[in-house]
Amino acid sequence: MSPTVTDNVLLSASETDASLADRNTFATRVAGKGADPEKKALFASVTKRIDYTPKIGTELHGVKLSQLTDQQSEELAAFIAERGVVFFRDQEDLDSDEHVKLGARWGPLHVHPLIPHNQKNPEVIVLDSRLSPPARYNSNNSWHSDVSFEPAPASFSILKFDEIPEAGGDTVWSNGYQAYDDLSQPIKTLLEGLTAKHTSDIFRAFQANTGRKTFGKLNDSDHPVVRTNPITGWKSIFTNSVFTREINGVSPAESQWILQYLNDIVARKLEYQVRFHWEKHSVAIWDNRSTFHTGVPDFKPYHRRGLRVTVSGEKPYYDPKSTTQAEDYEAKAKVIIAKQEAAAKAQADAEATKAAASA
Ligand SMILES: [Fe+2]
Repeated sequence: MSPTVTDNVLLSASETDASLADRNTFATRVAGKGADPEKKALFASVTKRIDYTPKIGTELHGVKLSQLTDQQSEELAAFIAERGVVFFRDQEDLDSDEHVKLGARWGPLHVHPLIPHNQKNPEVIVLDSRLSPPARYNSNNSWHSDVSFEPAPASFSILKFDEIPEAGGDTVWSNGYQAYDDLSQPIKTLLEGLTAKHTSDIFRAFQANTGRKTFGKLNDSDHPVVRTNPITGWKSIFTNSVFTREINGVSPAESQWILQYLNDIVARKLEYQVRFHWEKHSVAIWDNRSTFHTGVPDFKPYHRRGLRVTVSGEKPYYDPKSTTQAEDYEAKAKVIIAKQEAAAKAQADAEATKAAASA
């Protein structure tokens, strides 16, 4: 069956927009950096917070993404960097224009060189299960960080589905901070000195198969294997199974061995992951610098159509003075454990007092 072309979706470039993606640029500031660590302005609107796991994924209720103040949007950027991915429900008023406005608060918006986009807003890509590269939906191994082949890979991606399958079609994210933190020290030391080649090869193959004209150059870029998140200052693994082709400066066999291992832990370790079930008007926003994600290819025969705005980030870097999510987590865990112990002691004391009084 030939793909159905949805209204207002531009499948491939005409001469007038054949260089749209060549205008992609680096972010000139780090959105969210320096925001109030307690995020009081943001949480003044939050009616309910659901942490899906201690280290990744939070659902926030009470926030309307189309109505954030500047202070709230900065705090939200910082919160997303800390939690990896943040989920929202009932964002019916986040239409295409508001979607673009939200992303533009955080940096220049990325125009994808190949994925079909909304005709009016080329920064809004259309992830339609009838239009997208079919391999993406037939594979269980499409873990990636958005557009990591670009010189300025994505900081944030904002995804909303306007057609939800009747069953299936969840998205899963995996925590790049923890993938780094759990490595042994000798392997951390090895990886911290390395860079890797990220390529547009999968899009080149798709383009060769379909003959679609691109909206600009299909880029390849070298990026550090261990990346510092500029907001949290934490280290993360930054290689992925879709775009990262090889590690520089080691033999091909060693490169394959390292990438295979990193891809394997990202895909396999359930404790790194959080899974989100979409409803109509749900929105997920994630930080591509420190997470990976994949769709779950289980929704056939149903149809799924999503709209994504992608924010270009800074040039990826590794700062040896970076801290880790593990250190932050341990510090927070100590406070929680101390509170639990204090509560247990208070209860024991109260019971002892009661027993003494009745003796
Ligand atoms: Fe993606």
